[in-house]
Amino acid sequence: MSTIKDVAAAANVSVATVSRVLNNNGYVNEDTRKRVVQAISKLNYIPNEVARSLFSKQSKTIALIVPDIKNPFFPEVARAIEDLMSSQEYTLILCNSDEKIEKEIMYLNAMKQKYVDGIIIVTSTLTPKHIEKSDIPIVALDRTISMDIPSVSVDNFEGGRQAVQYLKSIGCKKIAHIRGPHTIINADERFKGYIDEVKNESWFSDDLVVNGNHQVLETTKVTKELLMKHSDIDGIFAGNDYMAVGVLKAAEQLGIRIPEDLSVIGFDGIQLCQLTSPELTTMAQPIYELGYRAAELLLEMIEGKPISKLHYQFQVKLMNGQSTKVLGVTNDEK
Ligand code: RIB
Repeated sequence: MSTIKDVAAAANVSVATVSRVLNNNGYVNEDTRKRVVQAISKLNYIPNEVARSLFSKQSKTIALIVPDIKNPFFPEVARAIEDLMSSQEYTLILCNSDEKIEKEIMYLNAMKQKYVDGIIIVTSTLTPKHIEKSDIPIVALDRTISMDIPSVSVDNFEGGRQAVQYLKSIGCKKIAHIRGPHTIINADERFKGYIDEVKNESWFSDDLVVNGNHQVLETTKVTKELLMKHSDIDGIFAGNDYMAVGVLKAAEQLGIRIPEDLSVIGFDGIQLCQLTSPELTTMAQPIYELGYRAAELLLEMIEGKPISKLHYQFQVKLMNGQSTKVLGVTNDEK
């Protein structure tokens, strides 16, 4: 099999010149280009992508590091990223970090050794000092890392407030919150939005907030305990849709009717919301747009374009399902 050296010898040029022709970067005069192209054709040379990336320090590859691809939010965001990247002839490497900083650091180092051209990461543990050492363009998605690192996310605090405001608007008199894991920045922000809306209510007590840990089964367990302790809860704001499914399961196991006895609202707007019974009302993130914007931002950084704006924060919006009661419709009318 011919190598890049064979092509260089046949065209009577240096390996670096062949690399410039292959990567279409740097100046090569027309006659030289023609000789190299003819040599490639004559020797039937197929560039070795690894060798090429070693030489050019570019691999036309980007990495996406997410906590857990099993959580339905992340495949939807990954789809948008891959759509744009593949249209620009980039390939995507997917990594699961499990929210563990040691895995995130391991992947950052591994991607550097593979000469990936850029990284999009969803993290609540990495700090700027971990990123500053990396000379690879990095975009923080869904959660911010620092003011100096470009990011794409939503206004989680305002989204949490709006979720509770909506439950109040349909007549809920005692509202609980199933929060995501502590230390995950957007779970904390959604919790703060809930607290901002309920802290002055006479019915509020701290034990109306329980941690579903972004998991369905954990949420089912803690929600059952909550509803058995507070049988007068008539509204629940779940910090993501995955946990809202756990709330629906808990209500079903306790014989509690949704939405007649209990209104439930989630957060994310994943496609799963249309598959639950009843369909889930949620505060929907523009998931595809989030991923697409993060990919556009990363491409601008890879191509060395000036970055006009470092941080993009989108708003969530109410997506009505059947898990919340309709204002003015009494239970027995259902
Ligand atoms: O469901 C996964 C959660 O983690 C989503 O709310 C998303 O915002 C991510 O942070």
